[in-house]
Amino acid sequence: MSIYAHITGWGIAVPEKKLTNNDLMQMVETSDEWIVSRTGIHERRIAGANESTATLASKAALQALSNAGLSPVEVDLIIVASSTPEYIFPATACLVQDHIGATNAGAFDLSAACTGFIYALSMAASQIRTGAIKSALVIGSETLSRFVNWEDRETCILFGDGAGAFVLQASEAPGGVLTSALHSDGSGAKSLMLPAGGSRQPTTMETVRQGMHYIQMNGREIFRFATRVMAKATEKVVDQAGLKIEDVNLIIPHQANQRIIEAAARGLKLPTERFMVNLDHYGNTSTASIPLATYEAVEQGRLQPGDYIVLVGFGAGLTWGALLAQWSGPLSKTQRRVRHFGTLNRARALFRQVTRRIEGMIWGREEKEKPKSRK
Ligand code: ACO
Repeated sequence: MSIYAHITGWGIAVPEKKLTNNDLMQMVETSDEWIVSRTGIHERRIAGANESTATLASKAALQALSNAGLSPVEVDLIIVASSTPEYIFPATACLVQDHIGATNAGAFDLSAACTGFIYALSMAASQIRTGAIKSALVIGSETLSRFVNWEDRETCILFGDGAGAFVLQASEAPGGVLTSALHSDGSGAKSLMLPAGGSRQPTTMETVRQGMHYIQMNGREIFRFATRVMAKATEKVVDQAGLKIEDVNLIIPHQANQRIIEAAARGLKLPTERFMVNLDHYGNTSTASIPLATYEAVEQGRLQPGDYIVLVGFGAGLTWGALLAQWSGPLSKTQRRVRHFGTLNRARALFRQVTRRIEGMIWGREEKEKPKSRK
């Protein structure tokens, strides 16, 4: 009996603060007309002081779990795809695991830039299809505003903050994630990168002085690359599934630039109406853009159970990929509101921290008494 990985829940979290093109005109030499005609973006969201990649991810995750009618303790795996994780380590996924009280879940981060959500969805679906796990939370979450150079007009107009999450669940009914195609070309690594803060170039006064802790991008190169790969990756997954492009009800692309999406539509000989676009009000939210667009497609009634969808994206790495799924909706007809026991989760975390300290006091003394290993 085959096992399928169904998308049964979806949720989002976006900061309240909006940054419009007019606001940007006060910050850099640009115009609303230039930004809209070159990108399609009108405004984007910016995280507040108390918001971070992990808090947005947790909020989106809880909404996705509510829609799926699944409790956090029933989640087996959490993957957070992010270009702006909370820390280099620990993984943002672990912070989400603790915050939502997913006490039975494994958790890790996945780094594939804007293609990260497609990579993560593909990995989680594979785990479900092998029978290793029964449910997964896949989250794309970003606070790109913290890595943008607000004096660089080529990049600061593009990016925004937000998070989106899917719940995947196992079922013997056919459907869900059917095929995926993941690609990379590291020779293009320098086209889009955050040069400092990693092991190659740890942060120093000098790297900060040179602004190497900000996103650096060759926009034209990325644009050419994106227009080359979007249609090809879409065709590949449609072909792998034994379908025709006409069978696909909705294509949900990475929301980077309206012109890139139009080029993909031309390449596939499809009208742009077949593509979900919401970059006008969120900008490029990297890994969060595809789940944010999917959520709005559901809200707008553009997705019905049984529909074929293609998610397709590209990003730094370079990476690109696509994934074909048959839309499912919640497995259980009775949706239940998932209660978030925030205080209880915090108390549990505190209890564990105290237990670890006590263990440290007991076992730490014994450690000291151990003979030193020979050199
Ligand atoms: N306002 C006004 N003028 C500007 C701005 C701005 N904000 N930014 C650039 N310009 C100027 C340039 O300086 C240039 O002037 P010049 O001709 O005097 O040199 C002119 O506008 C045209 O610049 P181009 O770079 O040719 O503009 P283009 O049409 O390529 O648009 C853009 C630039 C929007 C960045 C486009 O190249 C793009 O969208 N590229 C893809 C970027 C992308 O998607 N990145 C994310 C990848 S996903 C991820 O992993 C995060």
